[in-house]
Amino acid sequence: MVAIAIVYFSGQGHTHQMAEALAKGVETAGGTPHLLRITGEQIVNGRWQDDAILATLSTADGIAFGSPTYMGGIAGQFKCFIDAASATWFQQGWKDKIAGGFTHSGSPSGDKQGTLLYMAINAAQHSMIWVGSSEMPNPETGVNRLGSFMGVMGQSDLDMSGAPAKVEPGDLESANLYGQRLVAVAQQVTG
Ligand SMILES: Cc1cc2nc3c(=O)[nH]c(=O)nc-3n(C[C@H](O)[C@H](O)[C@H](O)COP(=O)(O)O)c2cc1C
Repeated sequence: MVAIAIVYFSGQGHTHQMAEALAKGVETAGGTPHLLRITGEQIVNGRWQDDAILATLSTADGIAFGSPTYMGGIAGQFKCFIDAASATWFQQGWKDKIAGGFTHSGSPSGDKQGTLLYMAINAAQHSMIWVGSSEMPNPETGVNRLGSFMGVMGQSDLDMSGAPAKVEPGDLESANLYGQRLVAVAQQVTG
């Protein structure tokens, strides 16, 4: 059974819901998901540290990276984690694991392609194998309604009311299907 770690930051809960949907997809495909949430509390004096998260990432067959789009890229909290994981890069500890990415934004574009591209660049630096999404856009179900093949995108309009985060059902289903795809590809890679 392959293990897929889902490591993500979420400020208001949208990216968290996408991470949970992705985890359900991993389970549906017979894999083991590990939901690992990056939080601001793990960052002390500008340095991210959480040995338990790093240990789980080192044993996973694949890693899905998730972050809201902040200013056209990954959130600062997530970058702190990425930078701390450069210690793993020195050892090439994630080499040949599969990698994927997902993001959520407030604007229809929001420049969230920049977020996924950065995640793919980081995966390349780790010599990981990037897996894009493979769903054709389906206007009826909303699956891949944003037409992203680099990874999974979700979007919902900014809501400053303090109401619970709402994510489009089609975006959640896209994340679910992506979780299933990551398991299928990881199974091929691990033989
Ligand atoms: C600091 C900051 C920067 C943001 N920058 C963008 C942006 O560049 N593009 C965009 O569409 N939304 C932007 N947003 C909105 C978030 O992407 C959006 O609220 C997202 O759903 C948050 O996900 P979360 O609930 O997982 O934190 C920004 C929000 C914050 C707090």
